[in-house]
Amino acid sequence: MNETINMQLNHRTIREFDNRAVEDEVLEELFEVFNRAPSSTGLQQCSIIRVTDQKIKDEIMKVSTQKYLAKCPELLIFIVDIYRNSRIAIENGFKDNSYRDMDRFFQGFTDALVGAQNMVNAIESLGLGAVYFGSILNDYDRICEILKLPELTFPVVGLGFGYPMQNPQIKPKMPVNLKIFENKYKVFDNYMDSIKGYDDEMTNYYDTRDEGRRSDCFSKQVVKKFEDIVIKRKDVLKSIAKQGFNVE
Ligand SMILES: Cc1cc2nc3c(=O)[nH]c(=O)nc-3n(C[C@H](O)[C@H](O)[C@H](O)COP(=O)(O)O)c2cc1C
Repeated sequence: MNETINMQLNHRTIREFDNRAVEDEVLEELFEVFNRAPSSTGLQQCSIIRVTDQKIKDEIMKVSTQKYLAKCPELLIFIVDIYRNSRIAIENGFKDNSYRDMDRFFQGFTDALVGAQNMVNAIESLGLGAVYFGSILNDYDRICEILKLPELTFPVVGLGFGYPMQNPQIKPKMPVNLKIFENKYKVFDNYMDSIKGYDDEMTNYYDTRDEGRRSDCFSKQVVKKFEDIVIKRKDVLKSIAKQGFNVE
């Protein structure tokens, strides 16, 4: 096994960091890694907002409700960014408004995630740790407001990182045969039977997200998370429309 794969197989989300700042040279390198990531049609339709102002971090934390967000030495918010290219097109005499299409939105969303995970791999390769924050999307409109996002931009995910202060267990994952299929989708006869072993394994995992408590089995987590609805997240299409995209 090579070093890269070994590192990826040892991936763990880190939620507690040392106070040590991430050096400028390291940040520059990580931003270059983000910039080198593949992008849909080569249009580079995503951007990052690096949050260095503690007051803004605290405001974002209120949306996320996860206190450890405000303590991350580095916090990046990845965004869909069609605004930049729309301006380039308009300044170039473009008259249509196809840049408002949902297809573009999804291209930007995908670009952001591809760039983010490329960066996470680089972060981990340097011995640093990272945590994604999907929880910043608990209130899309508020995040747009806090970060002063113009039209044709939209938050995708947050990423906190720094030097780790914890060494969590590797989180058990579902066996690959449940996720990787050949040529066509495979439907299993009984899903509870298929994940029995994984369910058992999961109860021996101590979740740092849940203050180190022993995890529920996976099947219970699925139900719990489906029950745990954040009302504002249900209105995501309204928020996307508010940012100027054609959702219909
Ligand atoms: C898109 C995305 C959003 C996530 N959002 C959060 C989050 O808001 N808060 C958090 O503590 N972890 C978050 N995570 C981390 C997951 O909880 C974590 O990856 C998962 O439980 C598996 O654990 P592992 O990364 O240690 O293998 C997120 C991960 C992804 C990919």
